[in-house]
Amino acid sequence: MKFLSRYTPLQIAIHVYAWSALVWIVAELLTGTFSINPIQELEQRTGRHAITLLVLSLMCTPVNTIFKWSEPLKRRRTLGLYAFMYATIHVIIFADLDYGLAWSRLIQELVEKPRLIVGVIAFALLIPLAFTSFDIWKKRLGKNWKRLHKLVYLIAPLTFLHYIWSKKGDLLSLQGEVAKPLTYGLIIAVFLIFRIPAIRKALASFIPRRMVLPAKKDAQPKADTP
Ligand code: HEM
Repeated sequence: MKFLSRYTPLQIAIHVYAWSALVWIVAELLTGTFSINPIQELEQRTGRHAITLLVLSLMCTPVNTIFKWSEPLKRRRTLGLYAFMYATIHVIIFADLDYGLAWSRLIQELVEKPRLIVGVIAFALLIPLAFTSFDIWKKRLGKNWKRLHKLVYLIAPLTFLHYIWSKKGDLLSLQGEVAKPLTYGLIIAVFLIFRIPAIRKALASFIPRRMVLPAKKDAQPKADTP
């Protein structure tokens, strides 16, 4: 229990949530209750967990602005790195388990399905963000670090596009499998709108004071990484 006291409740919640998808998958595989189409199921679950963690990382700034609660800002890196971890597992499952690393077949599939190209672009953009997320790179890159990390506001809509494109259904009547990806799209759109400085300022001044969490005395828990 002494070990746990080193972490804040938010840190514990993030680590537990992030690992839960993998633990669940392993538990189902061990008990023989996993899907009858395991590769597709693995692709879908890791993809969804990756986009969810990415969206959670986008939530940190609005939560800080609305509730004046600064801890989520320190957890953005952890959430982003977990999103990258799941996206990497997702890509490995696709390339290795699904296509057996048959590169020519794999490239042909990518060329034929633009939704996969969108996924590749999103993943390629995530790589520099993950590798430069550490303090040493923050110092080295200076102002460019912030510019580079704004790419997340491009990556999020790209992953939404990749997600909704892989689902069957009708966008207008909300028939089929589009409701869930559309919910992600809506959340991402709200976060992007929230990036507009005038809207951010208006919202911050609009929030009633009693909604704002009291500042914590204990201060600055260190940023953690997965
Ligand atoms: C090299 C890059 C990528 C490739 C080749 C790829 C491949 C795929 C494939 C084949 C599927 C369809 C699975 C199916 O329904 O049969 C899929 C779905 C999905 N991918 Fe990716 N992906 C890539 C990058 C990403 C990234 C970076 C993310 C998120 C951060 C992501 C999130 C998703 C999501 C959310 C789904 C839909 C899951 C569902 O159907 O519930 N993908 N991807």
